[in-house]
Amino acid sequence: MSKILTGLQPTGAITLGNYIGAIKQMKELQDNYESYIFVANMHAITIPQDSEELRSNTRNLIALYLACGIDPNKNTIFLQSENPYHANLSWVLECNSYFGELSRMTQFKDKSSKNANFTVGLFTYPVLMASDILLYDIDYVPVGVDQKQHVELTRDLAERFNNKYGDTFKVPEPLITKSGTKILDLVNPSIKMSKSSENKKGVIFLLDDLEVARKKIMSATTDSECVIKYDMENKPGISNLINIYVSLTGKTIEETENEFTGKNYGEFKRCVADVVVDFLSDIQEKYRSYLNSTIIEEILDNGKNITINEAKIKYDLVKMRIGLTR
Ligand code: AMP
Ligand code: TRP
Repeated sequence: MSKILTGLQPTGAITLGNYIGAIKQMKELQDNYESYIFVANMHAITIPQDSEELRSNTRNLIALYLACGIDPNKNTIFLQSENPYHANLSWVLECNSYFGELSRMTQFKDKSSKNANFTVGLFTYPVLMASDILLYDIDYVPVGVDQKQHVELTRDLAERFNNKYGDTFKVPEPLITKSGTKILDLVNPSIKMSKSSENKKGVIFLLDDLEVARKKIMSATTDSECVIKYDMENKPGISNLINIYVSLTGKTIEETENEFTGKNYGEFKRCVADVVVDFLSDIQEKYRSYLNSTIIEEILDNGKNITINEAKIKYDLVKMRIGLTR
C-alpha cells in the first residue's frame, strides 16, 4: 500500500482553508493509503510561542483531527516533538542543503520580510519538513498549494542524498486538491485564508461561533456583476465561495453554477452559509466529546511507539551511509 503523510502546525485556530487544503484530503485518502498525520509542534516554535498555549493548541489539534473524521484505526497519529529522529535527520539534511536554495523558499522570504528578528529555525524549517517526510518512505504528501515548494525541496534533498550516498530515501510527491486548493480570505480574496490574518472577518475558524461564521460568509466580498460563475481571475470572491461550497457538498463547480443560475448573491451566500454552519456544528460537537476523553492519550502513545521504531531504522541507515557510525 502506498503511504501518505501530512502535518499541521498547532499555531492558533485551524481554519476552513486548513480543513479543505489538508485535513479533508487525508480523510478521503485514509481508506486507500497507509496514512500518517501529525502535529508539527516543532515547526510552530520557529516563531515565538507561549508554552501553555502551545501545549493546549497541540491537544486541541488532535481532537480536531479526530472530529474532522481522521480515523485512529486507519492513521498513525503522532506529535513531532515525541520522536527525536525528526530533528536528528533534519541536522543531517541541513548539512546537505544549500543556503541559496533555502533562501529561495517563498514562505521564508515572506515571513522573514515581516519581522527583522526572524530565527534561524524559520530559515531551516523546510529541511525539518523534509525530514518529517523522508523518515517514513512516504509516496504522497497531501498539502495546500502553498506547501508545494517545500515538498519539491524535499524531493531535491532526497535525490541529492541518494545520488551521493546510495539509495536511501523514497522520493515523495505533493498531492494538491483539485478543487478549492487555495481557499481565499473572505474580505480580501486576493490573499489566502490564513490563521494569522489580522482581519478575522475574512477567516472561518473551525471552532468559530456558528452565528459569527454565518455573518462572515454573508458579508464576504464579491463583485458587482451578480452572476454566479466560476472565474478565479475576474470574480475571486464568488469563485472562492463556490470552492467552499463545492468542497463541503461534494458537488462539482458546474453543478453549482447551474444550481444558482438566475439567483442573486444574497441567496447564494445564504446557501453557502448554511452548508458551512452545518459542517462546523457537526465538527464542534465531536470535537468537544474527544477533548474530554482519554482516547487522545492512547492514540498519541501508540503513534509515538510506531513512528520511533520506524524512524530509527531509517536514521540508522542514514548514519551508516554517511559514516556517523563506529
Ligand atoms: P498552515 O496554516 O500554513 O500551517 O497550513 C497547514 C496546511 O493547510 C497546509 O497543508 C496548507 O497548505 C493548508 N492550508 C492553509 N491555508 C490554506 C488555504 N487558505 N487554502 C487551502 N489550504 C490551506
Ligand atoms: N510546514 C507545514 C505547514 O506549515 C506543516 C508540515 C510540517 C508538514 N511537516 C510537514 C506538512 C510534512 C506536510 C508534510 O503547513
